[in-house]
Amino acid sequence: MSEQLKRQAAAMALAGIKPGMRLGLGTGSTARHFVDLLGQQVAAGFECLCVPTSEATAQQARSLNIPLSDLETLDRLDVTVDGADEIDPQLNLIKGAGGALLREKIVAAASDAMIVIADGSKLVQTLGRFPLPIEINLFGRGATRRAIADVMARHDAEGELRLRETAPGSPYMTDGGHLILDAFFGRISRPEALSRDLLDIAGVVQHGLFLKMCKTAYVATADGVETLSAGN
Ligand code: A5P
Repeated sequence: MSEQLKRQAAAMALAGIKPGMRLGLGTGSTARHFVDLLGQQVAAGFECLCVPTSEATAQQARSLNIPLSDLETLDRLDVTVDGADEIDPQLNLIKGAGGALLREKIVAAASDAMIVIADGSKLVQTLGRFPLPIEINLFGRGATRRAIADVMARHDAEGELRLRETAPGSPYMTDGGHLILDAFFGRISRPEALSRDLLDIAGVVQHGLFLKMCKTAYVATADGVETLSAGN
């Protein structure tokens, strides 16, 4: 059921993509449906040029013969279509469960519009129930971790800070060769301040709060696909 909903949201986003557009391709199980549907269009002659947000998405896109480029070659993108882990009523997001938050944010920031596709389970009143991924540099990770823990305490985090692992003792590595710490806040009441406080830490590469970046979300439920707009 959930896969069907994700695909419906992806199809809705695809319906708005015009021939010749330069697209950012997101990462994760919902974005995967979008790339798959886009691949079908490309096979039928649809023209576009895409920048993937992860090696996994790049691989999928290549397998479907979707033309790829990068942000060295392209100045700006028209639209990025991506999933999210949490979406609040202002369309602020938590992203990064798939570990691609850094490239996702770079690509979204280089796009004129960011469209999020999701099933209804991602909608929340307040961000923070989902652990916030924080990408950090390997060097000095102990100091970075302590600094993040301080920030969490100042922001009334209810839970722990956990190193993401692929197996016990094997840290997860991002495409950029960094680590991810998952921060359990429970409730993020001041997202802008939290974003600034995290980015002020020298060893923090990026975090998964996407604030004021998404203007439109297509959210699929059993009742159909709803279009949400930031500011409504
Ligand atoms: C990838 O790093 C993430 O930001 C994903 O976009 C997000 O986790 C949503 O993934 P799903 O579509 O698999 O839920």
